[in-house]
Amino acid sequence: MSFTRIESERLILRRFEERDLGPFLAYRNDPEVARYQSWESCGEEEAVEFICGMRASQPGMPGEWFQFAVGSKQTGDLIGDCGLRTEEDGRQAEIGFTLAREHQDKGYASEAVSRLVDYAFDDLSFHRLVAITDQENEPSFGLLERLGFRREGSFAQNAWFKGGWTDEYLYAILRSEWLERRK
Ligand SMILES: CC(C)(COP(=O)(O)OP(=O)(O)OC[C@H]1O[C@@H](n2cnc3c(N)ncnc32)[C@H](O)[C@@H]1OP(=O)(O)O)[C@@H](O)C(=O)NCCC(=O)NCCS
Repeated sequence: MSFTRIESERLILRRFEERDLGPFLAYRNDPEVARYQSWESCGEEEAVEFICGMRASQPGMPGEWFQFAVGSKQTGDLIGDCGLRTEEDGRQAEIGFTLAREHQDKGYASEAVSRLVDYAFDDLSFHRLVAITDQENEPSFGLLERLGFRREGSFAQNAWFKGGWTDEYLYAILRSEWLERRK
């Protein structure tokens, strides 16, 4: 079934829309937000292409990322995004998440990612989710630990990242573990 939207108490996870261009460009070009991300900045043409691409895509396509726009229920405005890259086996996925700086530290990322995980296990019937984070990115692995993800790996200088070697953690959670926590 085609993805439309997911709601939580304060947020809506929905498809990207044309009106998201301004806020999307603003946080994608914020050096603090980009610090531990694979991207550095984003031009207007690239952002338009990204939004068009996401409008035509579906979550759960093997080998592909799907980014969910995270909007405020109160204003409808884009505050960030979270994503799901489905493995080739169609049963496992990697997740990612980003919030504009002014919307951080309010519990929005935990709320959005929690609904994303519900969706991945309930609607897409995934078996396991993973997330990879820089070992210096405490807000990122703090969020994963709050949601019950388990640190499964600590990798020394395993990625060449923005001009230097970086250390990463691998986090994971199984569907059975998520369902148990939700009881
Ligand atoms: C990673 C990222 C999404 C985490 O965002 P965040 O806002 O810190 O995460 P949460 O939504 O879980 O918010 C948690 C904080 O909000 C606080 N908070 C305030 N009001 C809250 C509420 N109503 N409910 C829950 N938490 C609340 C919590 O106490 C917590 O603060 P603390 O860590 O000082 O205890 C954010 O730092 C980010 O976008 N970073 C840049 C992109 C990035 O690096 N992404 C990860 C790549 S792997």
